[in-house]
Amino acid sequence: MVTTTLDASVLARLGGVVDPELGADIVTLGMVTGASIDEAGIATVAIGLTTVGCPLRARLERDVRAALAGLDGVREVVVEMGLLDPAAKAALMDIARRAAQDRSPTTTIPGTVPVLAIGSGKGGVGKSSVTANLGVALAARGHVVGIIDADVGGFSLPRLLGMSGPLAAKGGRLVPRSKPVGEGELRVVSMGFLAEEAQALLWRGLILNKAVQQFIEDADWTGIDYLLVDLPPGTSDVPMGLARTLPQTGLLLVTTPPLAAQLVAARAGDLARRANLRVLGVIENMSSFVCEHGTSYELFGAGGGARLAEQLHVDLLASVPFDPALGAGADEGEAAALTDTAAGRALRELARLVATELAPPPGAQGCTARLLDALERVVERA
Ligand SMILES: Nc1ncnc2c1ncn2[C@@H]1O[C@H](COP(=O)(O)OP(=O)(O)OP(=O)(O)O)[C@@H](O)[C@H]1O
Ligand SMILES: [Mg+2]
Repeated sequence: MVTTTLDASVLARLGGVVDPELGADIVTLGMVTGASIDEAGIATVAIGLTTVGCPLRARLERDVRAALAGLDGVREVVVEMGLLDPAAKAALMDIARRAAQDRSPTTTIPGTVPVLAIGSGKGGVGKSSVTANLGVALAARGHVVGIIDADVGGFSLPRLLGMSGPLAAKGGRLVPRSKPVGEGELRVVSMGFLAEEAQALLWRGLILNKAVQQFIEDADWTGIDYLLVDLPPGTSDVPMGLARTLPQTGLLLVTTPPLAAQLVAARAGDLARRANLRVLGVIENMSSFVCEHGTSYELFGAGGGARLAEQLHVDLLASVPFDPALGAGADEGEAAALTDTAAGRALRELARLVATELAPPPGAQGCTARLLDALERVVERA
C-alpha cells in the first residue's frame, strides 16, 4: 500500500466538502487519496470515486475548488479524479452506513438536504431580502423550503415574508410556521414568532447564544428539501455552529456593486475560513436600477460582485437590480421573486441555478442518495 502524506491545512478545508449522496464529508469517507501544496502554491487533491461515471464528479470538483479558495499559500488547485480500490470502497460504504446511524440524533435534517447560509462581509447589503426571495422562488418551484432566521437580535424575515407567530410545539419539538407558495411551502422559525414574554426571557438569559442552535436542533424539519439560514450581520458563532452540526452547509455571499470591496472581501473570506464553510458563490444585490422603459442605470457603481467572486475563486451567481419591492414585505403585496420585474427574473434565475446545478434537492441527487435513504429507514426501524 502506498502511503502519502496528506497536507493538514488542505484536509481541514476538505472536511467541509460533503458527498451529497452519502451525507458525510469526503475526508471521513476516505475519498481523499492525495492532498498537497507545492512550493509554487499549487494544491493537488486526489479524489477516489466509487464509480467511473459518478454523476457528482463535476459537483465534487467544484466543491473541492471552492473549499480551497483563499487558503494561505494556495495559488492554483488541481483536482485529480480516480477510482477507489475495492477495499477502500467497502470501507467507504461501511463509514457511510455508520454515519447514517450516528447522524446527530438531535436534528431532523438529513445530510442530503442542502443547507445554504446567506451571509456578507458587511451589514445592510440585502441578506434578509435575498433569503426571503430565494426561499419564495424555490418554494414556487415546488420545494419545501425551511428557513432559519439566525438574526435573533434583529429579525426581519417575518415582515419580509408576511408571516407571524406564535410558534407551536409538538412532540417536544418546535413546529416552524408554514406558508404555502404555489406548489411548494415555506417553513420558517424566527425570534419574531416568539411571544414577547418568551423573547424577554431569552434576552435575559444566556440562552440567547443558543437560540439558533435550538432552531437547528429542536425544530421539526422533517420533509424539507432545502434549509436557508439568514445570517446576522457581523461576526457571530452561527456559521461555526452550522459547520459543526450540518457539515453540508454552503455559504452564499451577498455584496453590493461598489468596487471598494477589498475589505469586504477580506471579511467575507474570513467568515468562511473561520468556520471552515465553503463558499458556493456570490450574489450582487442592488446592482442597477431598471426604469420602467427598460433602461438600466448603475446607481451604485459596478463590478463589486464580479470582483468578490474572482477573489474567492467562485461564480457570480446573480445580479439583483435595485427594486424597492424587494424590501417591501410580502404583507404589502406579492414577494418580489414572483413578480414580472428585472429583480423578480434575477431571483427566479438564481433559484433555478440553485435547484438544478448548485445544490439539487435530495430527490434529484441520484440513485445512491435514494439507496441511502432506504438504508436510513431500515436502520431506524431496527
Ligand atoms: N435589491 C434591492 N432593491 C432595493 N432595496 C433593497 C434591495 N435589497 C435590499 N433592499 C433594502 O435594503 C435594506 C437592507 O436590506 P436587508 O435587511 O435585506 O439587508 P441585510 O443584509 O439583511 O441587513 P442586516 O445586515 O441588517 O441584517 C432594506 O431596507 C431593504 O428593503
Ligand atoms: Mg438581515
